[in-house]
Amino acid sequence: MKKVDIIFDCDPGHDDVVALLAAVAHPEVFNILGITTVAGNNTLDNVTNNILSVIDHLEFDIPVYKGYATPMRRDPSPAAGHGKTGLDGPVLKPPSSKPQDKHALDFLYETLISRDEPLTIVAIGPLTNIGVLLMTYPEVKEKIEKICIMGGGIYTGNVTQKSEFNLWHDPEGAKIVFRSGVPIVMSGLEVCHAGGILHTEYVKLEGRGRASQLVFELYDFFSGNMKSKGIDWSPIYDLTTILQIIDPSIFKSEMFSIDIETEGDLCRGMTVADQRPFVKKESLNVEVLMDVDREAYIGMLFDALDILDKRYQ
Ligand code: RIB
Ligand code: CA
Repeated sequence: MKKVDIIFDCDPGHDDVVALLAAVAHPEVFNILGITTVAGNNTLDNVTNNILSVIDHLEFDIPVYKGYATPMRRDPSPAAGHGKTGLDGPVLKPPSSKPQDKHALDFLYETLISRDEPLTIVAIGPLTNIGVLLMTYPEVKEKIEKICIMGGGIYTGNVTQKSEFNLWHDPEGAKIVFRSGVPIVMSGLEVCHAGGILHTEYVKLEGRGRASQLVFELYDFFSGNMKSKGIDWSPIYDLTTILQIIDPSIFKSEMFSIDIETEGDLCRGMTVADQRPFVKKESLNVEVLMDVDREAYIGMLFDALDILDKRYQ
């Protein structure tokens, strides 16, 4: 498999961290050019400190660039469920490493415009950074092979009945991205729910090694959301974008014509899929992951953590 150059845009976030660990565990697949952070699950400063603390704790060597602290038009609104810091649960030291001086927008633009080969953007937070990039520098579109997004949902939402948090947080940024013409692979709520980790599964990670222990502590906190609803599994939302690049064969996907609702309360940020019988083939702009072999998905996570754990033995 040809290595994939990626830029990892995130708002860590428990599941963002798990997605990063899975990518770092597979250097034969991913060349991570940099991490860009965006306000979403928590403030820009907190999500940036969170990823820097994880990078220090696991001795990763990846540059981090801070992006936007507020959505394009709305006020920031931290997600429920990730705690006060955005990464409650594990006790990590405050970061010793620092973000790069360069703004994420400049990093994204300069990296893209200088490339011969297009790269992949993995976007697992609100689409503020990517929306501003495409609005400001549309010439970079041809340098982006695809954008792998965690966001949206065809039949459901999470922050409202119809809106998923990332796209709800910055619907204007999302609309720019979905209308950009850049190929999108969307890990929406349908596939993220299908790949949920059982609470009897994540507890097996305890004591297995440094990376596994971190994921155990992350999900021992994050699983509280679903446990409080009497549900015995939790989504690892963002992990889906990475596993789909590693092994698309465990997923089922469908092409949809999708636009983003930017008005209204219940439907703010909704991925509106046009399912009318006369939808034109050329308007099908998004490959939406709709299902996954859950056993394979969880198996890939455990294998990735095994690989990382061995680094610290
Ligand atoms: O709705 C799930 C998304 O919102 C995930 O990316 C999670 O990290 C939060 O950002
Ligand atoms: Ca996220």
